[in-house]
Amino acid sequence: MAKRKKLKLGAIIHGVGGNIGAWRHPDALTDASVNIDYYKQQALKAEEGKFDLVFIADGLYITEQSIPHFLNRFEPITILSALGAVTKNIGLVGTLSTSYSDPFTVARQFASIDQISGGRAGWNVVTSPLEGSAKNFSKKDHPTHPQRYKIAEEHLEVVRGLWDSWEDDAFVRNKETGVFFDPSKLHRLNHVGEHFQVEGPLNIQRSKQGQPVVFQAGSSESGKNLAAKSADAVFTGHETLEEAKQFYADVKFRAAAYGRSADEIAILPGIGPIVGRTQEEAEAKYEQIASLVTIDKALDYLGRFFEHHDFSQYPLDEPFPELGDLGSNSFRSGTDKIKRVAKEQNLTLRQVALRSATPRTPFIGTPEHIANLIQQWFEEEAADGFIFASSAPNSLDEFVELVVPILQERGIYREEYESDTLRGNLELPVPANRYTKVEVKS
Ligand SMILES: Cc1cc2nc3c(=O)[nH]c(=O)nc-3n(C[C@H](O)[C@H](O)[C@H](O)COP(=O)(O)O)c2cc1C
Repeated sequence: MAKRKKLKLGAIIHGVGGNIGAWRHPDALTDASVNIDYYKQQALKAEEGKFDLVFIADGLYITEQSIPHFLNRFEPITILSALGAVTKNIGLVGTLSTSYSDPFTVARQFASIDQISGGRAGWNVVTSPLEGSAKNFSKKDHPTHPQRYKIAEEHLEVVRGLWDSWEDDAFVRNKETGVFFDPSKLHRLNHVGEHFQVEGPLNIQRSKQGQPVVFQAGSSESGKNLAAKSADAVFTGHETLEEAKQFYADVKFRAAAYGRSADEIAILPGIGPIVGRTQEEAEAKYEQIASLVTIDKALDYLGRFFEHHDFSQYPLDEPFPELGDLGSNSFRSGTDKIKRVAKEQNLTLRQVALRSATPRTPFIGTPEHIANLIQQWFEEEAADGFIFASSAPNSLDEFVELVVPILQERGIYREEYESDTLRGNLELPVPANRYTKVEVKS
């Protein structure tokens, strides 16, 4: 199986935190999710650590039970545009839903970020799990899980088609002759499909990386198929090495079935390392983070995955309740896993809620311990790299200062950027424009 020469790293910037209690940490900036200086500082820190990319997650529906970061945060494209102006090499990946957007707008926005940043843009394709999103987009119903993936497939096809509207040498810009562009190098998509009808062309050219990098997040059967067929990179999440290896082999195998080579797709699980000078110090940090989460908040957090289901109605210390199909139309791969693990391990509701809200992962320990695990996952083909999520306010700084040098010393991680495009750093090929005629020499 093809493997990348170097490990890839992304950093999620998620303001006051993906963890519900993180905003209460003594060092937390409580307005971080809407603080441009915080976002700049994090992006520059990730760039100092030679990360491939920063990653902005997103959602389209909130309630009083949503975690603090979701309640009040930047829209991804807008914040990436600002970060593009203050960074030089790091990739800029943002989440945008195919269920609640028009391909023309999406193609245009990411192509613009790609130009602004000189070829560093990436789009995280999501299908939007939350049913309530429909109410914010003038839609009667939230499309079902299979419908959302069908829409996603067509949406992505249209966006990619629009991105090729202009061949790379289409703009002549000759003041003397008055020729601005070569009309033979301009192409209309004329897409007529089940969900979208889009004529084109797009009103912006390709960047030097050809097209923005397409990420996919969603790990169900449909999600894996979409990734295998069309994505350049996959954002996923695993609790164990075995699970990660299985997912890795599965997606690469599916990619081969679509006629793609295994190295055309990078698989990047999310991790939230907690680093300490000793194992005990790291454990103590974990305990501090966990102590900031009350059981009520943990139930709210768990409820969001199940359409904001009210888990406070069940006894806490009895087996996890039987939920039938609940959750399968939202975060299907996630809710299936929660239900399966609860049953297999005979967990109570309290245990499930606390495990979801404050997962105790293997990535807690000394810098060497964390570097060892990262190296093992990379070398044993469980991951091409990782998306790093901060567990506490200074997690990224600690990781860059303590873990990155070890990975560099071991020769598995770059000391300098290889390229100034995201594709270049991720070792992904630049896609040829579909309309460019290949000259056959006789
Ligand atoms: C690791 C991971 C990250 C995700 N990030 C987002 C996100 O930022 N925004 C969003 O709306 N959905 C996100 N999703 C949800 C997916 O887009 C999808 O709607 C959901 O997981 C259901 O699809 P699945 O059953 O294929 O996983 C994420 C899913 C995974 C697995």
